[in-house]
Amino acid sequence: MSAPKRVVITAGGAGIGRALALAFHASGARVAVCDIDANTIAELAEIQPEIIGRVANVTDADDMAAFLGDVDAAFSGVDVALANAGTGGPAGPIESLDLNDWRACLSANLDGAFLLCQWAAAHMKAQKSGSIILTSSTAGMFGYPMRSPYATAKWGVIGLMKTLACELGPYGVRVNAICPGAVEGDRMERVLKNEAAAKNQDIEEVRQIYVKGVSMRTWVSADDIADAALFLTSPAASKISGLAMPVDGHTESIT
Ligand SMILES: NC(=O)c1ccc[n+]([C@@H]2O[C@H](COP(=O)([O-])OP(=O)(O)OC[C@H]3O[C@@H](n4cnc5c(N)ncnc54)[C@H](O)[C@@H]3O)[C@@H](O)[C@H]2O)c1
Repeated sequence: MSAPKRVVITAGGAGIGRALALAFHASGARVAVCDIDANTIAELAEIQPEIIGRVANVTDADDMAAFLGDVDAAFSGVDVALANAGTGGPAGPIESLDLNDWRACLSANLDGAFLLCQWAAAHMKAQKSGSIILTSSTAGMFGYPMRSPYATAKWGVIGLMKTLACELGPYGVRVNAICPGAVEGDRMERVLKNEAAAKNQDIEEVRQIYVKGVSMRTWVSADDIADAALFLTSPAASKISGLAMPVDGHTESIT
């Protein structure tokens, strides 16, 4: 029997990250997560005490070094790294946006991915195996009016993924991205509220625009994303690298 996978997830306390953590744990993996919010780490510990949880802000290099140091001590390596952290950033026409909000959005979506990938690449190159998945978005595949910081950050995530797939492929390390569509949950409710305000529209009108832009006329669940991550890190995907994989019911437009 092979050793359990060692899985590290950023922003794993709630939302998609929590679904990833629970799904990988249920598959038999050893899982460590960080989250900026101590409450989510406490909640996850109650749900599944075997998952290692640490409070860390992915944009803070010292926090990440402390988290990943603990992971090193516990796991002595990593087989799967899921750079999942990201925030939605401000909504509005570009001329209304604040530079600090722009920077915060790029930082939350990109700095954490950089720091996790940097650490994971060192381990995976040495062991000549491993799989990295970055969480982008359908916002990383389309133009996204009123959400320029988020779309820019998520296209950046794809650029990082494509580049690392080239850099790490020779070492047998695969790098892919998952691009979720609108995921049911608190976050999308906040996004709808902000967009409705920015567009001066009713929140239900904005919700319908999202659904109508999807061929399958559906949102997706965090578990759909976890299923895709399990597939991409399985032997069934052993030759898949450099893929930006939408999990979205097929988005036609996100305007
Ligand atoms: N929810 C969606 O509809 C959707 C769609 C496409 C892509 N995504 C992407 O999926 C990823 C996860 O999204 P989600 O909906 O689960 O998010 P969420 O807003 O539900 O937050 C999940 C967790 O991230 C943590 N977090 C936020 N900033 C952090 C930071 N700086 N450091 C560490 N933890 C931090 C939060 O505390 C929370 O526990 C993000 O990269 C997001 O951009 C989400």
